Amino acid sequence: MSFPASRPRRLRRTPAMRRAVAETRVHPAELIQPLFIREGLTEPRPVESMPGVMQHTRDSLRKAVVSAVHAGVGGIMIYGVPATRDESGSGALDPGGILNVALRDVVSEVGDSTVIISDLCLDEFTSHGHCGVLGPDGAVDNDATLELYGQMALAQVDAGAHVLGASGMMDGQVGHVRSVLDAAGDVDTAILAYAAKYASACFGPFRDAVESALEGDRRTYQQDPANAVEALREVRMDIDEGADIVMVKPAGPYLDIVAAVAAESEVPVAAYQVSGEYAMVEAAAARGWIDRERMILETVTSIRRAGATMVATYWAEELAGVLRAGY
Ligand code: PBG
Repeated sequence: MSFPASRPRRLRRTPAMRRAVAETRVHPAELIQPLFIREGLTEPRPVESMPGVMQHTRDSLRKAVVSAVHAGVGGIMIYGVPATRDESGSGALDPGGILNVALRDVVSEVGDSTVIISDLCLDEFTSHGHCGVLGPDGAVDNDATLELYGQMALAQVDAGAHVLGASGMMDGQVGHVRSVLDAAGDVDTAILAYAAKYASACFGPFRDAVESALEGDRRTYQQDPANAVEALREVRMDIDEGADIVMVKPAGPYLDIVAAVAAESEVPVAAYQVSGEYAMVEAAAARGWIDRERMILETVTSIRRAGATMVATYWAEELAGVLRAGY
């Protein structure tokens, strides 16, 4: 009978021992809370495919932001759902458009006490639901879209956003927005580039949350899930164009990409645990098939372990509370 010379189990024996040797910890400040505001609502409205997530009114959004900030989250990300839409998504550029109004509300409520991230994309505002304007052939016109992103960026900076979340996956979007900001004399606003954003089925519930008008898919601009090398190229391009933070999205099914990007990136790496990742856990937990709290912590810890500096997750506020209580 020979006994093992090494016994890794020694370090797993008690909760205190496991805590002492844990390589990865999640801190509330690394979590970003995405929130939705819907124009014209008088009461917050639950998003059916995302139990626990609401479309907010202006008033309830202010309260939700204050509550997330009190819970200690590092940042908030705001999506606007307009009451009406048009071909070019003009509501996104309008200072009176719902997202810009909400940004102003939030800035006046919490100021610099958290990081306020806007969504710099047209899809919530276009009648066809695409992230850009369509050309005569019906395809998204990259360069015409850049022009609009530039104007949208100025409107969001004006409304007080600290970080612009460039999520449209148009070529050159980071460089264009950066040059528009520079030309306007803005040197302070950061750009979070959704550098590696995949054409994912995991966005389904989000499209409910924003009442997306999209028919078809975004495969001509979002990345093919089959590709990893391409993600590194996208990241390098965005950093060269002036991105301050790069993001990988979705997170859980793309941890190899998170790890590869984290190994190369010279700027912080964010990962977005998207609506479908959230809905899958909530749905299974509602049936009693998995332990909800453990799953939340495990999924977010795994995203951090893969190398993400910050994690956008719909559980941000709740998880921040759990983390502060200690686990
Ligand atoms: C588009 C956008 C999407 C999400 C955030 N911004 C998805 C899409 O391509 O439809 C998805 C976020 C989520 O699923 O939680 N600008």
